[in-house]
This record gives sequence, C-alpha cells and structure tokens, in this order.
Amino acid sequence: MEGTSEAGRRRTFEARYDRLREALAEAGLDAVVASPSDNLYYLTGFRSEPDERVLLGFFPLERPAALLVPALYEEQVRASGWKGRMAVWPEAEGPKPALCGLIEELGLSGAALAVDDEMRADYLLTLMEAARPARMTPASAVLGQLRVRKSPEEVELLRRAAALADQALEAGIRACRAGSTEREVALALELAMRQAGAGGLSFPPIVQSGPNGAMPHQPPGDRRLAPGDAVVLDFGCRVEGYCSDITRTLCVKQPEPELERVHRIVEEAQRLALSTVAPGRRAGEVDAAARRHIEERGYGAAFIHRTGHGIGLSGHEAPYIAPGDDTILEPGMVFSIEPGIYLPGRFGVRLEDIVVVTASGAERLNQAPRALIRCGG
Ligand code: CO
Ligand code: CO
Repeated sequence: MEGTSEAGRRRTFEARYDRLREALAEAGLDAVVASPSDNLYYLTGFRSEPDERVLLGFFPLERPAALLVPALYEEQVRASGWKGRMAVWPEAEGPKPALCGLIEELGLSGAALAVDDEMRADYLLTLMEAARPARMTPASAVLGQLRVRKSPEEVELLRRAAALADQALEAGIRACRAGSTEREVALALELAMRQAGAGGLSFPPIVQSGPNGAMPHQPPGDRRLAPGDAVVLDFGCRVEGYCSDITRTLCVKQPEPELERVHRIVEEAQRLALSTVAPGRRAGEVDAAARRHIEERGYGAAFIHRTGHGIGLSGHEAPYIAPGDDTILEPGMVFSIEPGIYLPGRFGVRLEDIVVVTASGAERLNQAPRALIRCGG
C-alpha cells in the first residue's frame, strides 16, 4: 500500500503471510502457488498482467516465499518492493530449469499445492510437470477466507475508490442528454474517474439506455438517448488496486409512471436489504430481504440476478449475496447491494451501493443520491 511507510508495508505483507500459513496448516496444504493476479498482489504488492512468460509466486508453509520471474520482469518485481528470493529465468533458457530448481529448493515436489484460480493453463501445465506428482486444489479455498475480511486500511482504500465513483457520477449525469450515445456517456464516466486520480477502472463502464437497460451486462453501443429513456449507469474505479462499483438509474426528462414506481420499489428493496446486514446474519437473508419485497410488489420474475457480490482487489469476490447462501457475515466484509428490475423491451432499473459490515450493522461507502435522477432537462 503506497501511502504507508516501507516498514508498515512490510508488516502488512508479513501479517498476510502469517495468516496464510495458518490457513495452509489448517487445510493440510504445503504451499500456495500464485500467478499474476489479485492474489499475487495481495501477498506481495507486485502487479502485472499475465503473459506467455511464466511468472509464479510460491508461498510455502515451511520456507520463505520465492518468486519465479522471467528476466524481462526482474527490475519491475524489485521496484515493487519485493525483498525475498527471486529465481530469474533468462529468455534463451525458458522457465523449466529455474522452476525445477526452485521446486526442489522449496521441497515442493509431490506436495499438496493450492493453485491460483486465475492461473493460465500453460503455466499450470508447466507447474504440473515440474512438481509431479503434486496434488493440486484451488487456492480460493485458503486465500478467499483471508481476503474476505478487510483490514481498516483496506476499507479506507475502498472508501476512497467509492468517493471517486460518486464524484464521477456528476459527469455521467451531465453527459446524459437526448442525442448523446451510450458510448459517449461511458467515455465521460471513464474520463472523470481517471482525471479524479483513479489508478484504473474496476471494469469498463456500463451505460444502457431504454430497452438496453433490461440486459444487465450489455456493453454500451451507438444507441442515442431519447426523452423518456431510463438510463442505467454502472461503473467503478480503483485506488491502489481496490475497486468501487456503483449503479444509478437516470431518466432523460420526464419518466413514465411505471418507471417511477419500479424505481421506488428497487430503492425500498435496497434499504430493506441494507437493514438486514449485521454480524451473524447469513448472506442469503440479505438477498431474501430485497427479493421478498420485489416479489410482493409483483416484479419477482423481473429480478434476474443475486442481490450482491463481495468487492476488494477483485471486482467480484466472496461473499456472494445470493439466494440461500449460508455465509455468516462478519465485521470487515465488504459487498454490493444491487437489486434490479428488468422489463424486456422497455427499461431496466438497478441501484447499487457498496457496504461494509460493522460491529453492529452496516455502513454505506457510497454517498451519491439514490432517488431516480432526472437528466438532460
Ligand atoms: Co456494478
Ligand atoms: Co456490482
């Protein structure tokens, strides 16, 4: 974490590795093997996009962590603050000799390995061959439980990311005029987030006007906004890797009565779900609170997704606020509450805020207004 001192930063990663070792011991596993991903960033502070050159982080139960690094990335890994062991492989040699040497050094041949869920198949096949006859399981089983409870420092970064998204909403509202295309509005949102200092996007902004709003993951296109259109804006950005994610529904000029009614129901559903959040409650109860209300108002079949998802270094991660989910909520968990109603051929409405579980309930990280927003007037 950039803002903190070098010593503080080192303590953060040491504490994470200590907790990882406890989780490994408990699960009867010998090591986590991570590839460039949110997991590797969480454990080391090093981030890169995975490419065809094998880069792996080994986090054994019994020995210090070590990275297998292509020569091309050596300086970048060092610059990230990594002080531990690095086995660098030269381009001319390929990764296999260095990888086999490292596995022997760490005593991981034939070990029980927890493998990064996001690992590329070519990395995994190389690893399987080098560590044969290793037993492999998904690392999410051990890393998920570590990452699911955020520290106060992590919550602060999520709060800053949420504030940047709240701020960018203003630019999105200004861009929503009759005649603008969805793509233009998406660009205005992206520009506003980057100009405000975001380190990147959580995902490409979603802008859906009129009937497109009934397709929750449809990318923005060339449709031009028209008076009376509902417009769903769903976007987020990153601060030091931590994501925000907010959705607001707008209406260009005058809304039709059913749009106003549907929006009110979604607002109420979100409020009911939020008031259900407290330590000890189950994720499924939060989902049920929103879903029951939408069903009672006659739109049950139009609420076609879960109520929310966890958020942190990944835009979607545990806990999932889904029907019947038994996850017990704990202080420090952070997730979205985003009920929606989708009427095919007409419009969609969604309202999304990020909340953090506190000692006694929940706190919203987004502060933007929640009522149906009139724009282009
Ligand atoms: Co969203
Ligand atoms: Co979301």
